Amino acid sequence: MTDSDRTRLSVSVIDVGTGREQDFHTVMRDLGRLLSEKGYGRMEVVRDEAVPRRFYSVRLWSDARAAERCHGDVRAQDLTSVLYAVGNVTHVVNGVRPRDPLRYDRAWSARAEADRRFGFERRLAMVGRTEGERRGRDRRLGVRRSHEGAPPLDVVGAARCAREQAQAAFSHFKVGAAIETAAGVIVTGCNIENATYGLTICAERVAMFKALSEGHRSFVRVAVVADTETPTPPCGACRQILWEFGGDLEVRLANLTELRGVYKLAELLPLPFDARLL
Ligand code: THU
Repeated sequence: MTDSDRTRLSVSVIDVGTGREQDFHTVMRDLGRLLSEKGYGRMEVVRDEAVPRRFYSVRLWSDARAAERCHGDVRAQDLTSVLYAVGNVTHVVNGVRPRDPLRYDRAWSARAEADRRFGFERRLAMVGRTEGERRGRDRRLGVRRSHEGAPPLDVVGAARCAREQAQAAFSHFKVGAAIETAAGVIVTGCNIENATYGLTICAERVAMFKALSEGHRSFVRVAVVADTETPTPPCGACRQILWEFGGDLEVRLANLTELRGVYKLAELLPLPFDARLL
C-alpha cells in the first residue's frame, strides 16, 4: 500500500445491535452502491469471525476530496444516520478527515482533531467498550461513534451564535435560529431586515431556506433565540414554512441565557394547510 493509498483509506468498526443485522446489510449495500455510483470510492464490509455482530467497513476513496464530497452528500448523510441507528460505529482509521463546515460545534471539531492523532492501536482497544468503561482521554474516542457517544448538538447555542449576525437596523430585535437535520448537521439563520420593511425575512426562514438550498431534506428540530424574557415563537409565515419542509419539528425557544420552552410544531400550527390538501 502506498502512502497516498493510506491517506485515502477509512476504516470503521461497527458493532451491530441485536436483531439489526438485516438492516445493517441493507444500509451497507446502499452505501456501497452510492460510493461507486457517485465515484466516491469503493467500500468493503468484512465480518469479524471472532466477535458476534462485529463488522469492519473499509473505504478506499477515489481521491483526496472524495471523502469530503461523500460527507456532504445528503443521501450519504441519510444512510449514515440509519447506520448509526443500527449499530455502534467507531472510526479507527480516518485517512481523509475533512473539516465539516456544516458542523457547528467547534469544540467537537477540536476534540475530533486531537482524537485523530492518538493512533490506531489504542482506538482498536477501545472498540465496543461503553463510554463508562473508557478511561480519561479515551472517553474522547468515538466522537461520531454512535448516538450516545457523540456530544449532543447544541442547536440552541448555534442559534445564539447566529443571532449575532442579525441585520435588524429597523426593529433592533435580533433573532437567531438553527435547524438540526436528521443527519446531525446544524444550519443557522438570522433575521435580515430591509429599508422597505416588507422584504424582511425571519431567522427561521433564512435557516430553512439555507438548509434546503444546501440539499438537506430531513429535519428534527429548530431553535429560536431572542434577547427577551418571554420566548420568541416563530411567526405565522415561519410556522408554515417550517411545517411544509420540516414537518412536526421539535421547537426550542430560548433567550441568551436559558431554554424557555420546548414545543412540537403541530402544537404551534394546529390544522395546518399543506400539500396534502391541494
Ligand atoms: N423575527 C424573526 O426573525 N423571527 C421570529 O420568530 C419573530 C420575528 C424578526 C423579524 C423582524 O426582523 C424582527 O424580528 C421584528 O419583528
